[in-house]
Amino acid sequence: MSQKNRTILVTSALPYANGPIHIGHMVEYIQTDIWARFQRLRGQHCLYVCADDAHGTPIMLRARQQGITPEALIAVSAKEHQADFADFNVRFDNYHSTHSDENRAFSDMVFERNQQAGHITSRNITQAYDAQENMFLPDRFIKGECPRCGAADQYGDNCEACGATYSPTELKHAVSAISGTTPIEKETEHLFFKLTDFEDQLKEWIKAGHLQPEVANKVEEWFETGLQEWGISRDAPYFGFEIPGHPGKYFYVWMDAPIGYMASFRNLCDRTPELDFDRYWNSDSDTELYHFIGKDIINFHALFWPAMLSGAKLRTPTAIYAHGFLTVDGQKMSKSRGTFIKARTYLDHLNPEYLRYYFAAKLGSGVDDLDLNLEDFVLRVNSDLVGKVVNIASRCAGFINKRFDGRLSAECTEPDLYRSFVDEGNAIAESYEQREYGQAIRKIMALADRANQYIDANKPWVLAKQEGKEQTVQDVCSVGLNLFRVLITYLQPVLPAMATEVESFLNIPVLTWDAIDTPLSGHTINKFKPLMTRVEQEKIDAMLEDSKDSLGTPAAAPAASEKGVPTIDPIADTISFEDFAKLDLRIARISKAAHVEGADKLLQLTLDIGGETRNVFAGIKSAYSPEALEGKLTVMVANLAPRKMRFGVSEGMVLAAGPGGSELFVLHPDDGAEPGMRVK
Ligand code: 2FM
Ligand code: ZN
Repeated sequence: MSQKNRTILVTSALPYANGPIHIGHMVEYIQTDIWARFQRLRGQHCLYVCADDAHGTPIMLRARQQGITPEALIAVSAKEHQADFADFNVRFDNYHSTHSDENRAFSDMVFERNQQAGHITSRNITQAYDAQENMFLPDRFIKGECPRCGAADQYGDNCEACGATYSPTELKHAVSAISGTTPIEKETEHLFFKLTDFEDQLKEWIKAGHLQPEVANKVEEWFETGLQEWGISRDAPYFGFEIPGHPGKYFYVWMDAPIGYMASFRNLCDRTPELDFDRYWNSDSDTELYHFIGKDIINFHALFWPAMLSGAKLRTPTAIYAHGFLTVDGQKMSKSRGTFIKARTYLDHLNPEYLRYYFAAKLGSGVDDLDLNLEDFVLRVNSDLVGKVVNIASRCAGFINKRFDGRLSAECTEPDLYRSFVDEGNAIAESYEQREYGQAIRKIMALADRANQYIDANKPWVLAKQEGKEQTVQDVCSVGLNLFRVLITYLQPVLPAMATEVESFLNIPVLTWDAIDTPLSGHTINKFKPLMTRVEQEKIDAMLEDSKDSLGTPAAAPAASEKGVPTIDPIADTISFEDFAKLDLRIARISKAAHVEGADKLLQLTLDIGGETRNVFAGIKSAYSPEALEGKLTVMVANLAPRKMRFGVSEGMVLAAGPGGSELFVLHPDDGAEPGMRVK
C-alpha cells in the first residue's frame, strides 16, 4: 500500500513500570518509531502511542520493598522511561499509563460488554497461598527444587537449569519467594474469559493475513493443543483495578495492559479536538491499527486481545508485527559481561543514532533474533554513516561555501543520475513499508556508493586548482549535495536528528518524500558543520564497564539520582518494634579497606566489631578511596545473612546515606563509641 491518505495508529508494547529501559527494549521502540516516521514522511496520517504498564504483583512488591507506594514507584518509572525514549529520538504522539482514569473506564467497559455477551464465567480454583503475607502467590513468586533435574531455587513455572515447565504444586520444597514460608493451598473464586467462544472467528482472522506467516503457524499449533479459558481476575492485595461487581477481585495485569493502547489514544484525543476516538476503535473503523510487539507476547496480542475486542464490539488490529530478541556479541545480555546495557547507560556514552542505524541495518520483517555485535557496530557506523553518507556532504560543502557564497548551480547538470536516485525511492519505500529495514539500508548505501563514485570520478578538489573550471566545480558539488539530500530523506526515519541538522545545513524546509522530486537549484545553503563523528572504541569500553553488575541496585527508583538530581525517598510504611529489634546494628572499626579487582563499584572492608572481624563488600567506591576509610568507625548491620557475591562472601552491610555516585556518606558514630557496641 503506498497511496496517500491512510489513517494509521501504531503502538509498541507497554514497558513494565518496575524496571529501566534497556537496549533490548529499544529494538522494538526504534523499529516502531522508524515505521511511524516513514509513514509521516510519505504524507500519511500516522499516530504512535504508548504507555507504561503499571499494574501487577511485581510492581506492588517492588514498591513495598522500596518502602514507597506503587503510585510513587510508577511515577518515577514514567519519568525515566519517557526521558530514555525521548533521548533515543523515539517520538510518541502520546505516552500514558495503564494506571489512569481512561484505562479504568475502558477496562470496565470491555469487561462488562464481554460479560453481557456471556463471554465471562467464574469458578473456584485452588492456588498457592502465603499464609504469613496473606496473599495468593503468582507462579513467579514460588521457588523450590525443579521436579525434573533437582536444580535449587527455581521459579514456580519453569526451570532455568533444564528448561522444564510445570505447575508450582510440582516443585519440591516449595517456598514463598516473599516470606520464605511454605505455601498452603487455598480455594478462591476467579473470573475467566471464554476464549473458546472465539475459536472459529480467530481462525478466520488468522487466515486473513493479520499475522506474519511464522507467527500464524505458531498460533495454529496452539489451536491444535486446544484453547483454554483465560483467568482474568486476581485476589487482593493486588495493584490494579477492582473489577466492577466483584469486590476484592482485580483485573489481571494482562487484561488491562492492551486496553492501555486505547486509553493512551483516548488521552490524546481529549486534547486534540480534530481526533475522533470512535472512528479509530469502532467495529466499522476505516483506520489502520498496528501493534509492534516482542515474540514472547504473541498469545496476548494474537488471541486474547482480538477476542476481547471483538467480544466488546470494537475493531480488531489490522496487523500484529512481532520481532525477535536482542543478543549482544551472540549471547543473551549479561550483567557480569556488562552487556546488559540500560538505555541511559548507552546514552551516557554514545550517540543514539548509531544504534538506530545499526538496528535498522539488521532488522527484517521476521521474528529472528538480532545480534548487536559491538565490533561490527563500530565498523558499520563508521564506514556507512561517517565514511559514506556524511562524507558526500563534507566533500562538497566546503567548495560551495567558500567559492560560491553557499550558492548551488542554477541547474542540475546530471539529471539522469539524479532521477535514478529519486526513482529508487519506490523500492526503498516498499522495503520500509514491509519492515525490511535492512533491505532499505542496503539500497540506500548502494546509492551512497554511487554518489561517492560520482564525486571521485569528477574530483572537484583537482578541478578547483585548474583555470576555467569554476563552473564545473560548482556543478559537481551541487549534484553531490542534491544526491546527499535524497539520501538523507531516505534515511530520515532512521536518523531523525541528523536529518534535522541537514535541513538547517541545506537551508530547506522539513524533508518530505515528495520534495526530492525536484533538485535544489540556485539555492543558498548554510555553513557545513560535522554531522556525525566516528564511534570510538573507548566509549564502547566505558559503556560496558558502566554496565557491569554492582551491588544489584534496585532497578527503577534510583535512576533520578544517577542523573544528578538528588531525590529524597518517601518515608516507608511503619514497621513494628519487634521488626526493628531484629536488626543487630553494631559499631565497627574499618580496619582495612581495599579495591576489589574486577569490580567498579565495590570496596572490600574488613570490619572489627570487638574481637570479631567481618568481611563486607560495600558499593561505595564512587564516593571513597580506601585510604579515606581505614581506621574510621562506622555502623554495620551485623546479623544480615551472609551473601555470596562474585568476589567472595559479604558478611554484613555498612550504613550509608545519599543518592549515590560521589554523594554517598558512610555514617560515623560520635566520639566515645567502641567497636562491638550495639546501636540502640
Ligand atoms: O511484556 C511486557 O513487557 C508487557 N508489559 C507488555 C504489555 S503490551 C500491552 F499489551 F500492553
Ligand atoms: Zn530442572
